[in-house]
Amino acid sequence: MAIKIFEKEKQFHLYNSKLSYVIGECRDGEVGQLYFGKRINENQIVYGYQTLAGRPLCCAVTEDENYTKELACLEYPAFGNGDFRGPAYEIRQSNGSRVTNLVYDRYQVYEGNKPIPGLPASYVNTDSEATTLEIVCVDEVAKVEVTLFYTIWEDYSIITRHASFKNIGSDEVKLTKALSCCLDFPDYEYDWIQFEGAWGRERYPHVRPVEKGIMSIESMRGHSSANFNPFVILKRKNTDEFQGEAMGINLVYSGNFAAKAEVDNYGKLRFTMGINPNWFVWPLNSGEVFDTPEVIITYTKNGLNDLSQNLHKFMNNNLVRSPYKNKPRPILLNNWEATEMEFDEEKILKIARKGKEAGVELFVLDDGWFGKRDDDYAGLGDWFVNTNKLPDGITGLAKKVNEIGLDFGLWIEPEMVNPDSDLYRAHPDWVLAAPDRRRTLGRHQMVLDYSKPEVVDNIYHQLYDVISTANISYIKWDMNRSITECFSQGVAPEYQGMVYHKYILGVYSLYERLIKDFPHILFESCASGGGRFDAGMLYYAPQAWCSDDTDGHERVKIQYGTSYGYPIASMGAHVSKSPNNQTGRSMDADDRANIACFGTFGYELDLNEVSEEEFAQVKKQIVFMKEYRGLFQYGTLYRLQSPFEKNTASWMVVSEDKKLAIVVMYKSLKTPNVGMETIRLQGLDEKLVYTVNDKEKIYGDFLMERGLGTMGSDEPWYLSDADFTSRMFILKA
Ligand code: DGJ
Repeated sequence: MAIKIFEKEKQFHLYNSKLSYVIGECRDGEVGQLYFGKRINENQIVYGYQTLAGRPLCCAVTEDENYTKELACLEYPAFGNGDFRGPAYEIRQSNGSRVTNLVYDRYQVYEGNKPIPGLPASYVNTDSEATTLEIVCVDEVAKVEVTLFYTIWEDYSIITRHASFKNIGSDEVKLTKALSCCLDFPDYEYDWIQFEGAWGRERYPHVRPVEKGIMSIESMRGHSSANFNPFVILKRKNTDEFQGEAMGINLVYSGNFAAKAEVDNYGKLRFTMGINPNWFVWPLNSGEVFDTPEVIITYTKNGLNDLSQNLHKFMNNNLVRSPYKNKPRPILLNNWEATEMEFDEEKILKIARKGKEAGVELFVLDDGWFGKRDDDYAGLGDWFVNTNKLPDGITGLAKKVNEIGLDFGLWIEPEMVNPDSDLYRAHPDWVLAAPDRRRTLGRHQMVLDYSKPEVVDNIYHQLYDVISTANISYIKWDMNRSITECFSQGVAPEYQGMVYHKYILGVYSLYERLIKDFPHILFESCASGGGRFDAGMLYYAPQAWCSDDTDGHERVKIQYGTSYGYPIASMGAHVSKSPNNQTGRSMDADDRANIACFGTFGYELDLNEVSEEEFAQVKKQIVFMKEYRGLFQYGTLYRLQSPFEKNTASWMVVSEDKKLAIVVMYKSLKTPNVGMETIRLQGLDEKLVYTVNDKEKIYGDFLMERGLGTMGSDEPWYLSDADFTSRMFILKA
């Protein structure tokens, strides 16, 4: 049992070999946060947390004038009870009051964890992997019971948390804020790392010092967004990739979110994260329950690589659900950048045949196969095949692709509708649109109102008819615009604050139904590239299209940044044509492949159009990836040199037994006469001798302490005659 309970002191010490998390009842009955950090002795009862005020501050609590909430570290703080920092929840009661005070009532402990109804969440494969503590707190006046869930994981330096609200009274109450976690730290000597960007440059890490006052990131776009990812790292000032303390907080949710760090005038740091409270109202009638999404909280004393590796393994083993879980991903060829929507069956089959000749395993037909979809002005919402393009339908095309010897995959964008579609003409009230206001279009499309079950149902049946009548083994689920005018037509005013959250619950429910009906299908999520790359999505779709920006140089940054919070096996990464569609930049095919191999790997071009020389390169790349994809996708990843800091970037993957490793270096601009560059490797066995590209034999300790020289017996790096080049080193023990 990984939880030690001190009944008399009402303290709970959750621990595994790496971390300790101690919770206990405060003097006034609220649940306090007593310790979170490196594993400490579980027999320690934590003293000194009862915050004595030097003088009664303005918020002395009830009779106990020496205790102030203002100095307390709390687990799930309230509004209006003497804590002036941002609360973790707010409840509007029928008399108009928002004041609450949750008081510890009871607990239970059990092995394993429970699913969160309707929401994605981590799960145990066997009960012994984790232990869960539920602490129940009650507000006797509001008549609301809140259960705080904590799961401590045996093999990961991870705690997962969420909260559940229940109305135990007879009057309706309204939740106006229900965050997933609060972490109160006694000091604020931290840096905050956010993963930010926009379309085409998603998840760049950005470091900010935590300061007095408030800093935050959020999404109000209806999806987690390319702009700010729902993942934040708090690290100590001296922490780097290989040493030092850090915590990662990853929200398992794909809708509007908010993450906030607040430092008060006493130098204490409060971190909160969860559903964005902005325009969130959730009525709870007698007996009803509301569950918040889960957060994954990772802790390390050993630097950011360790933090990421821990998360990668956890997500691969305990979040991703799929027949492809922990399995090498198929090498695919997608027609989007080759044809966009201008294709017919013959053109598609020609591309597929060439793919087969190159060695790919799966052909994916992207946008443009349905309704009147000849451009992006029409067709979304009409999920029946366009027989002008594909006379034998998806059924026939899938069969022909199978006959070529490839699996068949299909693109869908089920959350959207074009005004020029049969669906919209029949149901103009099925889109999110505010009364008497403009219906803003994005990419000429509107957002279907997934808060309405009948809308989700309609799309489900349309998709079911396509998928059940063709041999489809992969689906790319796209989402190409953010939500505006968030209003559910014809529905009561009280309902409107629920719409953003109900929308994403609708998306999750459709995923769940399709997964249940077609469990063999590999899903890849996408939102104009990486606009919904989050832990929530990974529960349904084990891989996500990282970015529409397929330029190799840009992809180094995008995939490097993504790797802080998400596994390599989750990153959709393809080789596309040169010069690149998005940036116009040219790169050799092997350099493009050396970047895509740190991902699910595939191609996004017409291989009929590449030179013979390039086609030969592609064939070799595929043979290589078939041999090594298991290592790339599931090996231990080490980030060695950041593309955000230098002209050279590098990273490596190491097999579990440390006998095999691959290092790749990328150079942006050619620099003349730089001499010998070395790069210190990580994660090898110091006693083993490794051959480097089947040539030099070098001890692991030398490679890690002195480093790998980039001159080697190959051509020296600086003599390479181009910008944006790469080199790969295969190390075999
Ligand atoms: C955006 C995606 O990111 C692309 O890969 C492609 O699928 C297009 N949508 C199709 O409309």
